[in-house]
Amino acid sequence: MIQDLKIITVIGSGTMGNGICHVFAQNGFTVHMMDINQVALDKAMATIGKNMDRQVAKGGLTEEAKNAAIGNITTYTDMAEAVKNADFVVEAATENIDLKLNIFRQLDQHCPPHCILASNTSSISITKIGSVTKRANKVIGMHFMNPVPVMKLVEVINGYATEAAVTQLVYQLSEKLGKVPCVANDYPGFIANRILMPMINEAIIALQEGVAGVAEIDTIMKLGMAHPMGPLQLADFIGLDTCLSIMNVLYHGFGNQKYAPATLLVNMVQAGCMGVKSGEGFYKYTAGSKDLVVSSMFASKEWK
Ligand code: CAA
Repeated sequence: MIQDLKIITVIGSGTMGNGICHVFAQNGFTVHMMDINQVALDKAMATIGKNMDRQVAKGGLTEEAKNAAIGNITTYTDMAEAVKNADFVVEAATENIDLKLNIFRQLDQHCPPHCILASNTSSISITKIGSVTKRANKVIGMHFMNPVPVMKLVEVINGYATEAAVTQLVYQLSEKLGKVPCVANDYPGFIANRILMPMINEAIIALQEGVAGVAEIDTIMKLGMAHPMGPLQLADFIGLDTCLSIMNVLYHGFGNQKYAPATLLVNMVQAGCMGVKSGEGFYKYTAGSKDLVVSSMFASKEWK
């Protein structure tokens, strides 16, 4: 029952992990945020504080509610400690299958038997993740969108063995967090990334073929389709390494050439251009500046 979910452990304190901790803490849950090093956890706490300050400044949160929410979060570097009393775990580690399988093996070992194990994976099979545990019926996908405090959607993914009662609980839990849950079945990329990533990949192929420049491709999609960001800016925002991992899951999962990752995407990731997090992708990012500057590699011609 939803009232029985009191202690939530979030594994991983990166962009998604700290956003997930933020919304659970803001909604009154006791949150255990776990990562392998304290420096990452301290950085995540600072990010949560900064994002909540933004909500306070805009009038969406009171100073007292912010302090209470921050007080709901405790940080851990030891997984066994972080999960020993957990009712619900959300794993939000890097999008790497071996890493996730290893985490779920450990979670199964250290979590209490009643604890539900959710993954924020954006494309990896929930059935596969569940198969390395002895509780596949309690393993489910709970896919939040970035930025987590702002985006309304939670994609809920049923693995082959996920119990209907667990799906219902995650549905209700998402609503309690103020989100809109949508349930999908376990196929590569589920729904969100099966549709989003091929669009981003196609934008990169169009750039690679010289059909148009970065600014033109993004402006066409922003103004023509009313998207808040163009696909290339969104790729930078998600992280080009994450985009590549998801395209590879689609490509290998369906065995269909139409999902082959763009060569330019592969090259950029190999060159360390990951987007916002590395400071450069299709655009160049300078700390403290909101200006959108096209990376010099893709500087467009002046038509005016
Ligand atoms: N925490 C809290 N609040 C935040 C925030 C954060 N991290 N980031 C932005 N906000 C708030 C701002 O305070 C602002 O609030 P108000 O509406 O009350 O003024 C609002 O969000 C808008 O922010 P900004 O004014 O700074 O900037 P913006 O209008 O350009 O919006 C954006 C920023 C919300 C990111 C918008 O550009 C957007 O929606 N972009 C697309 C995001 C998207 O598609 N996300 C999904 C990515 S795919 C994914 O996550 C899944 C996957 O598996 C890959």
